Amino acid sequence: MNERSFDPVRLLRQAEPIDPYPVEPSDDEIAEQAGIPTASVVRFDMNTLAGGALPGAVKGLRSYHPDRLPEYGDQGLRELRRGIAAAIGVSDRRIVPGAGADELIRLLTTNVVGPGDAVVIATPTFAMYDVEARLAGARVVTVDRERPDRRQPAAQLRRAAMEAGARLVWLCSPNNPTADRFSSDEVREVADGLDAVVAVDCVYQEFAEASAGTAAEGFSLAGLQEELPNLVILRSLAKAYGLAGARVGYLVLHEALADRFAAARLPLPIGGPSEAAAIGVLADVATARARHREVVHERDRLAGELESRGWHVLPSETNFLLCRPAMGLVATEIADGLLATGIVVRSYLGGQLVDWLRITVRTADEDDRLLAALDAVLAGRE
Ligand SMILES: Cc1ncc(COP(=O)(O)O)c(C=O)c1O
Repeated sequence: MNERSFDPVRLLRQAEPIDPYPVEPSDDEIAEQAGIPTASVVRFDMNTLAGGALPGAVKGLRSYHPDRLPEYGDQGLRELRRGIAAAIGVSDRRIVPGAGADELIRLLTTNVVGPGDAVVIATPTFAMYDVEARLAGARVVTVDRERPDRRQPAAQLRRAAMEAGARLVWLCSPNNPTADRFSSDEVREVADGLDAVVAVDCVYQEFAEASAGTAAEGFSLAGLQEELPNLVILRSLAKAYGLAGARVGYLVLHEALADRFAAARLPLPIGGPSEAAAIGVLADVATARARHREVVHERDRLAGELESRGWHVLPSETNFLLCRPAMGLVATEIADGLLATGIVVRSYLGGQLVDWLRITVRTADEDDRLLAALDAVLAGRE
């Protein structure tokens, strides 16, 4: 074999690369560009939990002794599954944990679709449903909103799923980035009797509950699974429980599917320290919920501040805001101006959201820093 002409890429299943999830610049890179210490960088682009680690996470992590590192840990993830089950009021038999929602999007996609199968995705939304569908060789059918500030009719999604003969339909509720939610009636309208798995990504559910002032799990879709066995629920401890760095998520499934997914998952997707942190936060849901209420309160203040500057801010049931800067301002220019001061917001280079920015709600002090930087960037343009 002539090594020079041998192209190892042709050994891959797919001839063409797929567009990956973009790798964001690191805090170190941003700090270096801005000429500030790394600790001064504030990420308003990741939708993570404001206010630092929850006490339960710290306690859980401290309970993990380094002596345990040479061993694998419990492949049944029994204590974690029991902790999740107790927190959300669902039998642990229906819980399949994974390394963040991201890993579970892959697990779900590869177990449901293969080359040529149709995956319907309600867009604009989180990018990984599309990435994983393409990696699996599936055919992606996107159902765009008419406009980012118009809700997506369930009937339209249902129709698209039927027309495409979809095997998998993705809804995100509350949706990243539009910050609105499908009601359980709307989920039913999409899923009822459909010959497809309907996956609902609920990683921001806890913030929606805090927004509405419902009890914990007030917006849970788990009860619907009795009626709709094709409904799969995706949750995460990354956002509402402040464990983005630990990588812990879970699926809630009808029992028949749960057994199959439990058999298909990696033997030990979650590392011991992450598992311990997760068990720790789940043991203290009340403190997490108090934090969610603070975030929601601060979100409404931040929205008011942006609106008072003439910005259009969409109603949010999450810990982030999707907003369109005041007339005459270019969203990407604002994002670049803020980035130069170490403040990172999410902008969009093309598509429906090109005029919009997504801003994670952080602490009042951090949000004030954002507002001051914003005012300075805008004053600099005049
Ligand atoms: C809607 C949505 N789903 C899933 C994820 C990924 O969650 P995790 O960190 O648990 O992988 C994100 C992260 O931004 C998200 O916004």
